[in-house]
Amino acid sequence: MPTVFLPKEMDRREMYLELLRMAKELREKYDIRFSRNAEDEVEALYGIMKALYELTRAEMEAQKPAKKKRSKRKKKKPGVERTLLFVKPDGVRRGLIGEVISRIEKAGLKIIGLKMVWLDEEWAKKHYPDEMAVKIGEKAKKAFLERGQEFPWKEEEYGKAILEALRRYVTSAPIVAMVIEGPRAIGKVRAIVGDTAPSRAAPGTIRGDFACDDYELANLQTRSIYNVVHASDSEGAEREIKELFSEDELYPEYTTLYEEMLGEF
Ligand code: CDP
Ligand code: MG
Repeated sequence: MPTVFLPKEMDRREMYLELLRMAKELREKYDIRFSRNAEDEVEALYGIMKALYELTRAEMEAQKPAKKKRSKRKKKKPGVERTLLFVKPDGVRRGLIGEVISRIEKAGLKIIGLKMVWLDEEWAKKHYPDEMAVKIGEKAKKAFLERGQEFPWKEEEYGKAILEALRRYVTSAPIVAMVIEGPRAIGKVRAIVGDTAPSRAAPGTIRGDFACDDYELANLQTRSIYNVVHASDSEGAEREIKELFSEDELYPEYTTLYEEMLGEF
């Protein structure tokens, strides 16, 4: 608590001017309106005290929940993981946000962070870096060969083209991102999401139930496969969560009813 020393030497005239100066400063700094002009120093003093009281109270109110939240943060249990899932622009534009969230909730997983963001090019380059090209190319080649189809491209070149298309895709409309926590959540969420190509994704998975796009068609149209959601794998989960959420935006401290039955995460 700050201590305020009242002036002893000042005469009433000086005190009055000082009070008016302070009132003017408060009015400018905090955009406070005094309902009428102060007639004398007592009125001016009353106005200043009241404004300061309101400001201090508002500031103290704003700080309260943050403090409570910090102190209640839980320790992570063994086998409990965090993962990132986001509804991609096609999912958002098709009105599938609710469907996706619902499946995660029903599976007993705990959503500890949630937000809509419109990603920019810089973010997309960081999230889908050029180094991913080879891996994506290899995965695509495997999928083509498994189906007895030719793969006439170099893996890296194919991967680079996919990456560019992918960056265009994720920045084309907002996404809805969530951080999910639960026992072996990374693998569980990938299983709920299904195969990368919706044409191959099993019924019952998000991609299998809500999309039917395929590599061939996407290639023909030089675009990314529209597969409704992104879900982290075990290599990327921690980094990807940090790229989209600050610690303050995560709320692991509440307890879901399912979690209560299993024993808290
Ligand atoms: O998303 P997932 O982890 O299943 O697949 P990925 O191999 O990490 O690729 C990331 C994303 O790139 C996919 O979800 C697709 O949207 C896109 N992609 C594509 O359009 N065509 C490919 N041949 C490979 C990936
Ligand atoms: Mg991936």
